[in-house]
Amino acid sequence: MSKIIGIGKANISTTMSNEEWGAYVQTDDTWIRTRTGIESRHISERSTTALAVEAARVAVEQSGLSAEQIGLIIVATISADQMMPSTAASVQAAIGATDAMTFDLNAACTGFIAAFNTAQQFLANDVYEYALVIGAEQLSSVIDWSDRNTCVLFGDGAGAVLIQRSLCFLAGEVFTRGDEMGVLTLGAKGKNPYIQMNGKEVFKFATSVLTSCIERAIMRAKITEEAIDWIIPHQANKRIIEYVAKKQKIPIEKFVLNLNRYGNTSAASIPLALVDAAPNFKSGDKILLIGFGGGLTWGYSLIEWSE
Ligand code: COA
Repeated sequence: MSKIIGIGKANISTTMSNEEWGAYVQTDDTWIRTRTGIESRHISERSTTALAVEAARVAVEQSGLSAEQIGLIIVATISADQMMPSTAASVQAAIGATDAMTFDLNAACTGFIAAFNTAQQFLANDVYEYALVIGAEQLSSVIDWSDRNTCVLFGDGAGAVLIQRSLCFLAGEVFTRGDEMGVLTLGAKGKNPYIQMNGKEVFKFATSVLTSCIERAIMRAKITEEAIDWIIPHQANKRIIEYVAKKQKIPIEKFVLNLNRYGNTSAASIPLALVDAAPNFKSGDKILLIGFGGGLTWGYSLIEWSE
């Protein structure tokens, strides 16, 4: 039902190493590296909107499309610069997508998957021919810089994917377990304005839903596990991914991993990993994108790459 025709990411020049966190909290490179796989992350002075706009511009330019042709823009984010108007409306104005319907979507670190699967419905039902899906986060503005349990894990980033109606969406689902919302939260309106997390509970949740997404995707698409060429999981922690690879006996090389350079960028992590890994993809490759995070939410999109 769709084909990816343009991808892009925001270029953030400022990086922050694990050692640099030592100036803010009691931590060190060895702890962060061994517990999470993260070596550095980007910290941006630019807003979530600015990052989203840059990623969108790169994707549109790569596609060769004119922005007026885009029918739908969805921005997945948990760090919007304001409640109203939406980040997507700002992107629409900045890139000149004069005919696009716009909205923001919050499904935390599952946000990109929820947005991507939502866009598929509009394309499959012939409502629009082109949709722009963006994951963008300035998480450095919503972390508690004095809480070592959370601050070292996150980073800023934005990635965008421009999709055309065609035949590459094989399956996709998103799930929510709202009764467990308390393990990962971020307040608003001045209440608890920082990300708070029960790391151990989230770790257990993440490993179990990654496994179930792989199983559900192959069941829904009626393919074997071996037929999946690449898995792009939400980039939260290397140990989560290694655990699932071992348990499912899937070669770790199939998993796209770039969290060592970005940390956890929430809704931006999957499109960022997609952009970075795209040079390795061939036409026909089956790629499984899997997100999980606050809500609790989790979900996947199984796509076939075409060039
Ligand atoms: N530097 C140094 N020590 C730290 C630290 C840091 N940045 N953060 C926590 N610690 C300390 C803790 O205070 C604790 O000390 P204590 O034993 O004296 O109380 C100790 O390290 C061990 O903490 P623990 O919670 O056992 O670590 P862990 O092995 O569970 O790893 C996480 C912690 C957060 C890395 C891990 O639980 C995790 O990755 N969970 C999933 C998080 C995730 O994916 N979130 C995003 C979902 S979208």
